[in-house]
Amino acid sequence: MARITAGVTTSHVPAIGAAIDRGETASDYWAPLFAGYEWSRKWMAANLPDVVVLVYNDHASNFSLEVIPTFAIGCAESYRIADEGFGPRPVPEVPGHADLSCHLAEQLILEEFDLTVVNRLDVDHGLTVPMSLLFGQPEAWPVRVVPIAVNVVQYPQPSGRRCYELGKAIGRAVASFPEDLNVQVWGTGGMSHQLQGPRAGFINPAFDNAFLDRIVDDPEALTHIGHLEYLREAGSEGIELIMWLIMRGALGERVNPLHRFYHVPASNTAVGHLVLEAG
Ligand code: DHB
Ligand code: FE
Repeated sequence: MARITAGVTTSHVPAIGAAIDRGETASDYWAPLFAGYEWSRKWMAANLPDVVVLVYNDHASNFSLEVIPTFAIGCAESYRIADEGFGPRPVPEVPGHADLSCHLAEQLILEEFDLTVVNRLDVDHGLTVPMSLLFGQPEAWPVRVVPIAVNVVQYPQPSGRRCYELGKAIGRAVASFPEDLNVQVWGTGGMSHQLQGPRAGFINPAFDNAFLDRIVDDPEALTHIGHLEYLREAGSEGIELIMWLIMRGALGERVNPLHRFYHVPASNTAVGHLVLEAG
Protein backbone atom coordinates (compact mmCIF):
# COMPACT_ATOMS: atom_id res chain seq x y z
CA MET A 1 0.00 0.00 0.00
CA ALA A 2 1.04 3.59 -0.44
CA ARG A 3 2.08 5.39 2.74
CA ILE A 4 2.78 9.01 3.66
CA THR A 5 6.24 9.19 5.20
CA ALA A 6 6.89 12.91 5.57
CA GLY A 7 5.64 16.43 5.02
CA VAL A 8 7.44 19.56 3.88
CA THR A 9 6.40 23.18 4.05
CA THR A 10 8.14 25.99 2.23
CA SER A 11 7.48 29.43 0.82
CA HIS A 12 7.62 29.73 -2.98
CA VAL A 13 8.90 33.27 -3.65
CA PRO A 14 9.61 33.60 -7.42
CA ALA A 15 12.83 35.59 -6.81
CA ILE A 16 14.25 32.44 -5.14
CA GLY A 17 13.73 30.59 -8.43
CA ALA A 18 15.38 33.43 -10.35
CA ALA A 19 18.38 33.36 -7.95
CA ILE A 20 18.80 29.62 -8.58
CA ASP A 21 18.35 29.93 -12.35
CA ARG A 22 20.87 32.80 -12.57
CA GLY A 23 23.49 31.17 -10.32
CA GLU A 24 23.17 33.83 -7.61
CA THR A 25 22.57 31.60 -4.59
CA ALA A 26 25.95 32.46 -3.01
CA SER A 27 25.38 36.23 -3.11
CA ASP A 28 25.32 38.18 0.18
CA TYR A 29 21.56 38.57 -0.12
CA TRP A 30 20.72 34.95 -0.92
CA ALA A 31 23.36 32.83 0.86
CA PRO A 32 21.63 32.90 4.30
CA LEU A 33 18.36 31.80 2.69
CA PHE A 34 19.84 28.85 0.84
CA ALA A 35 21.87 27.83 3.91
CA GLY A 36 18.54 27.14 5.63
CA TYR A 37 17.70 24.50 3.00
CA GLU A 38 21.04 22.68 2.97
CA TRP A 39 20.06 20.17 5.65
CA SER A 40 16.76 19.52 3.84
CA ARG A 41 18.37 18.90 0.44
CA LYS A 42 20.69 16.30 1.97
CA TRP A 43 17.85 14.70 3.93
CA MET A 44 15.70 14.66 0.80
CA ALA A 45 18.43 12.99 -1.29
CA ALA A 46 18.67 10.26 1.37
CA ASN A 47 14.89 9.92 1.80
CA LEU A 48 13.56 10.37 -1.72
CA PRO A 49 9.86 9.52 -1.98
CA ASP A 50 8.34 7.98 -5.10
CA VAL A 51 5.67 10.66 -5.30
CA VAL A 52 5.07 14.12 -3.84
CA VAL A 53 1.47 15.25 -3.42
CA LEU A 54 2.34 18.89 -3.90
CA VAL A 55 -0.22 21.38 -2.59
CA TYR A 56 0.41 24.74 -4.23
CA ASN A 57 -1.35 27.68 -5.78
CA ASP A 58 -1.51 28.88 -9.33
CA HIS A 59 -0.89 32.64 -9.66
CA ALA A 60 -3.21 33.33 -12.63
CA SER A 61 -0.72 31.40 -14.80
CA ASN A 62 -2.60 28.26 -15.85
CA PHE A 63 -6.13 29.18 -14.81
CA SER A 64 -6.05 32.98 -15.48
CA LEU A 65 -8.70 34.93 -13.62
CA GLU A 66 -11.46 33.63 -15.89
CA VAL A 67 -11.72 30.22 -14.26
CA ILE A 68 -10.78 29.86 -10.59
CA PRO A 69 -11.29 26.38 -9.14
CA THR A 70 -11.27 26.32 -5.34
CA PHE A 71 -9.46 22.95 -5.34
CA ALA A 72 -8.03 21.27 -8.46
CA ILE A 73 -6.02 18.11 -8.99
CA GLY A 74 -3.67 17.48 -11.88
CA CYS A 75 -4.26 14.04 -13.42
CA ALA A 76 -1.71 14.15 -16.24
CA GLU A 77 1.41 12.11 -17.04
CA SER A 78 3.48 15.30 -16.98
CA TYR A 79 3.16 19.05 -16.44
CA ARG A 80 4.73 21.79 -18.52
CA ILE A 81 6.43 24.81 -16.97
CA ALA A 82 4.24 27.93 -17.21
CA ASP A 83 5.43 31.10 -18.89
CA GLU A 84 4.87 33.76 -16.21
CA GLY A 85 5.92 36.64 -18.44
CA PHE A 86 9.69 36.06 -18.63
CA GLY A 87 9.56 32.73 -20.47
CA PRO A 88 9.22 29.40 -18.63
CA ARG A 89 11.81 28.75 -15.90
CA PRO A 90 14.68 26.59 -17.25
CA VAL A 91 13.68 23.55 -15.20
CA PRO A 92 12.58 20.09 -16.37
CA GLU A 93 8.96 19.26 -17.05
CA VAL A 94 7.32 17.78 -13.98
CA PRO A 95 6.49 14.07 -14.24
CA GLY A 96 3.07 13.13 -12.93
CA HIS A 97 1.66 9.92 -11.44
CA ALA A 98 -1.65 9.74 -13.30
CA ASP A 99 -2.79 6.53 -11.57
CA LEU A 100 -2.37 7.98 -8.07
CA SER A 101 -3.93 11.28 -9.22
CA CYS A 102 -7.01 9.48 -10.58
CA HIS A 103 -7.29 7.41 -7.42
CA LEU A 104 -7.11 10.56 -5.27
CA ALA A 105 -9.65 12.35 -7.49
CA GLU A 106 -12.06 9.42 -7.17
CA GLN A 107 -11.65 8.95 -3.42
CA LEU A 108 -11.79 12.66 -2.61
CA ILE A 109 -14.81 13.39 -4.79
CA LEU A 110 -16.64 10.37 -3.34
CA GLU A 111 -15.75 11.77 0.12
CA GLU A 112 -17.50 14.99 -0.99
CA PHE A 113 -14.42 17.13 -1.65
CA ASP A 114 -15.34 18.31 -5.14
CA LEU A 115 -11.94 18.82 -6.75
CA THR A 116 -11.74 20.03 -10.34
CA VAL A 117 -9.99 17.41 -12.47
CA VAL A 118 -7.32 19.03 -14.65
CA ASN A 119 -5.87 16.89 -17.41
CA ARG A 120 -3.61 19.60 -18.82
CA LEU A 121 -1.83 21.86 -16.37
CA ASP A 122 1.11 24.24 -16.70
CA VAL A 123 2.79 24.75 -13.32
CA ASP A 124 4.19 28.08 -12.11
CA HIS A 125 6.59 29.24 -9.38
CA GLY A 126 4.15 28.04 -6.72
CA LEU A 127 5.16 24.48 -7.60
CA THR A 128 8.58 24.79 -9.24
CA VAL A 129 10.33 26.96 -6.64
CA PRO A 130 9.71 24.45 -3.80
CA MET A 131 10.99 21.67 -6.13
CA SER A 132 14.16 23.66 -6.87
CA LEU A 133 14.71 24.37 -3.17
CA LEU A 134 14.48 20.71 -2.21
CA PHE A 135 16.00 19.01 -5.29
CA GLY A 136 18.44 21.60 -6.66
CA GLN A 137 19.00 21.67 -10.41
CA PRO A 138 18.78 18.08 -11.71
CA GLU A 139 18.50 17.13 -15.42
CA ALA A 140 15.21 15.43 -14.58
CA TRP A 141 13.17 15.68 -11.36
CA PRO A 142 13.80 12.65 -9.13
CA VAL A 143 10.15 12.20 -8.07
CA ARG A 144 6.70 12.11 -9.61
CA VAL A 145 4.22 14.78 -8.58
CA VAL A 146 0.49 14.92 -7.95
CA PRO A 147 -0.28 18.65 -8.05
CA ILE A 148 -3.17 19.92 -5.96
CA ALA A 149 -3.95 23.56 -6.69
CA VAL A 150 -5.81 25.71 -4.15
CA ASN A 151 -7.37 29.08 -4.83
CA VAL A 152 -5.64 31.58 -2.58
CA VAL A 153 -5.56 34.47 -5.07
CA GLN A 154 -9.20 35.50 -5.27
CA TYR A 155 -11.71 35.91 -2.43
CA PRO A 156 -13.49 33.72 -1.31
CA GLN A 157 -10.67 31.28 -0.66
CA PRO A 158 -11.53 28.03 1.15
CA SER A 159 -11.36 28.11 4.95
CA GLY A 160 -8.40 26.74 6.86
CA ARG A 161 -10.72 24.18 8.43
CA ARG A 162 -11.84 22.93 5.02
CA CYS A 163 -8.20 22.65 3.96
CA TYR A 164 -7.30 20.68 7.10
CA GLU A 165 -10.20 18.28 6.50
CA LEU A 166 -9.19 17.90 2.85
CA GLY A 167 -5.71 16.98 4.06
CA LYS A 168 -7.14 14.25 6.30
CA ALA A 169 -9.10 12.90 3.33
CA ILE A 170 -5.91 12.92 1.23
CA GLY A 171 -4.24 10.88 3.99
CA ARG A 172 -7.03 8.28 3.82
CA ALA A 173 -7.00 8.24 0.02
CA VAL A 174 -3.23 7.69 -0.20
CA ALA A 175 -3.46 4.87 2.34
CA SER A 176 -6.02 3.07 0.16
CA PHE A 177 -3.87 3.13 -3.02
CA PRO A 178 -2.81 -0.49 -3.60
CA GLU A 179 0.67 0.14 -5.04
CA ASP A 180 3.62 0.19 -2.61
CA LEU A 181 4.61 3.87 -2.81
CA ASN A 182 6.54 6.19 -0.53
CA VAL A 183 4.57 9.45 -0.63
CA GLN A 184 5.39 12.87 0.79
CA VAL A 185 2.88 15.71 1.07
CA TRP A 186 4.14 19.26 0.66
CA GLY A 187 2.31 22.43 1.70
CA THR A 188 3.74 25.50 -0.02
CA GLY A 189 3.35 29.29 -0.02
CA GLY A 190 3.35 31.68 2.95
CA MET A 191 4.55 32.93 5.32
CA SER A 192 3.41 36.50 6.04
CA HIS A 193 3.63 38.78 3.04
CA GLN A 194 1.73 41.54 1.32
CA LEU A 195 2.57 42.47 -2.26
CA GLN A 196 0.10 45.31 -2.76
CA GLY A 197 -1.59 48.36 -1.26
CA PRO A 198 -0.48 50.67 1.55
CA ARG A 199 0.86 47.76 3.65
CA ALA A 200 3.00 46.29 0.82
CA GLY A 201 6.08 44.73 2.39
CA PHE A 202 4.21 43.82 5.61
CA ILE A 203 5.81 40.89 7.48
CA ASN A 204 4.85 39.58 10.95
CA PRO A 205 7.53 37.33 12.52
CA ALA A 206 5.55 36.85 15.76
CA PHE A 207 2.55 35.47 13.85
CA ASP A 208 4.77 33.35 11.59
CA ASN A 209 6.70 31.75 14.44
CA ALA A 210 3.52 30.97 16.37
CA PHE A 211 2.18 29.37 13.16
CA LEU A 212 5.36 27.28 12.83
CA ASP A 213 4.91 26.11 16.43
CA ARG A 214 1.23 25.24 16.07
CA ILE A 215 1.43 23.52 12.68
CA VAL A 216 3.64 20.95 14.41
CA ASP A 217 1.88 20.41 17.73
CA ASP A 218 -1.63 21.88 17.53
CA PRO A 219 -2.79 22.28 13.90
CA GLU A 220 -6.41 22.14 15.07
CA ALA A 221 -5.89 25.57 16.72
CA LEU A 222 -4.84 27.03 13.35
CA THR A 223 -8.06 25.91 11.70
CA HIS A 224 -9.87 28.65 13.67
CA ILE A 225 -7.96 31.45 11.91
CA GLY A 226 -10.39 33.19 9.55
CA HIS A 227 -9.79 35.19 6.39
CA LEU A 228 -9.77 38.58 8.14
CA GLU A 229 -7.23 37.38 10.69
CA TYR A 230 -4.92 36.11 7.93
CA LEU A 231 -5.29 39.45 6.16
CA ARG A 232 -4.60 41.48 9.30
CA GLU A 233 -1.85 39.35 10.83
CA ALA A 234 -0.12 37.79 7.78
CA GLY A 235 -0.80 40.35 5.02
CA SER A 236 -2.94 39.96 1.92
CA GLU A 237 -0.91 37.03 0.54
CA GLY A 238 -0.44 35.35 3.94
CA ILE A 239 -3.63 33.39 3.21
CA GLU A 240 -1.33 31.05 1.24
CA LEU A 241 -0.72 29.44 4.65
CA ILE A 242 -4.02 27.55 4.42
CA MET A 243 -2.17 25.21 2.03
CA TRP A 244 0.10 24.13 4.91
CA LEU A 245 -3.01 22.89 6.73
CA ILE A 246 -3.74 20.46 3.87
CA MET A 247 -0.24 18.99 4.26
CA ARG A 248 -0.63 18.80 8.02
CA GLY A 249 -4.05 17.15 7.87
CA ALA A 250 -2.62 14.45 5.59
CA LEU A 251 0.17 13.60 8.06
CA GLY A 252 -2.10 12.48 10.89
CA GLU A 253 -2.22 13.40 14.54
CA ARG A 254 1.45 13.21 15.58
CA VAL A 255 4.50 14.34 13.63
CA ASN A 256 8.19 14.43 14.40
CA PRO A 257 9.73 17.79 13.43
CA LEU A 258 13.13 17.18 11.77
CA HIS A 259 14.06 20.66 10.55
CA ARG A 260 12.78 24.23 10.98
CA PHE A 261 13.96 27.39 9.26
CA TYR A 262 12.68 30.98 9.26
CA HIS A 263 14.20 33.85 7.32
CA VAL A 264 13.21 37.46 6.66
CA PRO A 265 12.99 38.68 3.99
CA ALA A 266 13.19 36.98 0.62
CA SER A 267 11.91 39.57 -1.82
CA ASN A 268 8.76 40.75 0.03
CA THR A 269 8.10 37.55 1.93
CA ALA A 270 8.96 35.87 5.21
CA VAL A 271 10.26 32.41 4.38
CA GLY A 272 9.26 29.48 6.57
CA HIS A 273 10.33 25.91 6.06
CA LEU A 274 9.66 22.67 7.93
CA VAL A 275 10.47 19.00 7.38
CA LEU A 276 8.10 16.76 9.35
CA GLU A 277 8.33 13.01 9.69
CA ALA A 278 4.97 11.28 9.78
CA GLY A 279 4.23 9.92 13.28
C1 DHB B 1 6.38 37.14 -3.90
C2 DHB B 1 5.82 36.16 -3.09
C3 DHB B 1 4.84 35.31 -3.58
O1 DHB B 1 4.20 34.37 -2.84
C4 DHB B 1 4.45 35.40 -4.91
O2 DHB B 1 3.55 34.52 -5.37
C5 DHB B 1 5.00 36.37 -5.73
C6 DHB B 1 5.97 37.24 -5.24
C7 DHB B 1 7.46 38.04 -3.40
O3 DHB B 1 7.73 38.09 -2.20
O4 DHB B 1 8.08 38.73 -4.23
FE1 FE C 1 2.60 33.32 -3.99
